[in-house]
Amino acid sequence: MLAVALFFIACAAYWWWRHKNVKATEPPDLPGGWPIVGHLPRLLTDSCTLWNLLSNDVHQEISGLGGVARVTIGPRTVYLITDPEDSLTVAASCMEKDPYYNFAKPWLGHGLVTAKYEIWKNHRKLLNPAFSQILLDTFMGVFNSQSRKLVNYLENEGEKCYFDHSIHIRHNALETICMTALGVDFTDSNLNSKYVQALELVLKTLIERFLKFWLHSNKTFAWSNLKKKQDSCLSILHNVSNTVLQKRKFQINQNMNADKKGIPGTKFKPFIDLLLELSYKKEVFSDKEIRDHVDTILVAGHDTTANVLTFTMTLLGSYPEVQEKVFAEIQEVLGGNRDVKKEHLTRLVYLEAVLKESMRFFTIVPVIARRLKEDIKLKNCTLSANMTCITFLFGIHKHPIWGEDVNEFKPERWLAPDCPKAFAAFGLGKRNCIGKTYAMMSMKTTLAHVVRRFRIKADHTKMRVQAGAMLKAVAGHHVSIEKRT
Ligand code: HEM
Repeated sequence: MLAVALFFIACAAYWWWRHKNVKATEPPDLPGGWPIVGHLPRLLTDSCTLWNLLSNDVHQEISGLGGVARVTIGPRTVYLITDPEDSLTVAASCMEKDPYYNFAKPWLGHGLVTAKYEIWKNHRKLLNPAFSQILLDTFMGVFNSQSRKLVNYLENEGEKCYFDHSIHIRHNALETICMTALGVDFTDSNLNSKYVQALELVLKTLIERFLKFWLHSNKTFAWSNLKKKQDSCLSILHNVSNTVLQKRKFQINQNMNADKKGIPGTKFKPFIDLLLELSYKKEVFSDKEIRDHVDTILVAGHDTTANVLTFTMTLLGSYPEVQEKVFAEIQEVLGGNRDVKKEHLTRLVYLEAVLKESMRFFTIVPVIARRLKEDIKLKNCTLSANMTCITFLFGIHKHPIWGEDVNEFKPERWLAPDCPKAFAAFGLGKRNCIGKTYAMMSMKTTLAHVVRRFRIKADHTKMRVQAGAMLKAVAGHHVSIEKRT
């Protein structure tokens, strides 16, 4: 009993000492912190309540403190930023991911999302050509055929009854990333479903570990049930990436034997072929690194676009006048039932505004985190080296610079000459999303096909959203469709 009392007294004394020694240039503390546990009691809740808390109260409190604040989770203090200008300063000065991303290393290893800066800067340079416009244009055929397939699946749901469109979209997006960047046909619906389920669980384990600070250490985590759960999901996810790799290697070997030309294609090769070529010819990537990159592209290349499409269709269903404007534009640019061509995409200006507004309204990668290598001077304070800085991308999108209608869904704002240049959905600075052009091209193609065929109905005000590495709709996002005549 005495030992427990002494432990708590020591913790309280340490907490008091740490707070007394905070530099005057540091950002202010978020209100509501407790001795020893800090803000943890506020944050330790289910993921839907957490999202409501972060996107409303916490966001407003940080804004009231000037857009930067300190939050304490048990023994760790981290910075939270919502100010657009300060967020850019941090992104430009620091490209090292925070150790929090290490939680995903057993899954994604040294893939681009989780790699340490030293590895990342070489790999990103080598892999950038796999996302060049010239190569992405060659994917338009797959984007169209996959969109037509999705339309048929939606049609099978029948008219006028509400259903969960996210399931079809997710499976379709997973197939699409496999058929494009990863060069394999992945229509094995059993493996596809297992992947989607395991992914859902792994993303949940990551957020649970983040909130339970006693599981941050690999040693305590190793003994937890959460680790057991994570391991069984990871074996499914890795089985899929290994299958994809084996399939592609087999195809390449067959091509090599047939025409002795090596990996097919021109200078610009799809992601997986570029990886394999660099590892065969220049021995740049180890087998493990290749798998890490494939795992990363598998998840980043489909779960993101699937979520944005889910939210966007729900929003279109909730705003019929916006939907009719999108339809009118599609009719004007495409007419009839033609495939979308690359030259059509630039002309779908209003559709692009709708997608950007949807990503502003529901920022599906809600936060990013950096480890600060050096002190960083911001407008009103200085962040200290060796600390964690979490940027609320959704907070940037809800900043007062967007105007009084910040909380309204208004695609027209993107067409106004004075629209703020603070779009952060694809991240900030040089370590931003490598797949942003791929994403916009595939999402525009999908929506063009869907809106051309159906009139969507939905009510986004009923939607329940959960926080996590990725923002997801968990209820109230269902839509109904009616075939256009
Ligand atoms: C609407 C869809 C998408 C959104 C909103 C999105 C968002 C983001 C964000 C915010 C980051 C930065 C993460 C961080 O700093 O921690 C990121 C990174 C990344 N994204 Fe995307 N993404 C999307 C689609 C895609 C697609 C389609 C691909 C691949 C085909 C992709 C591949 C990646 C990769 C590999 C990274 C890590 C980049 C690096 O660190 O060099 N993303 N994405």
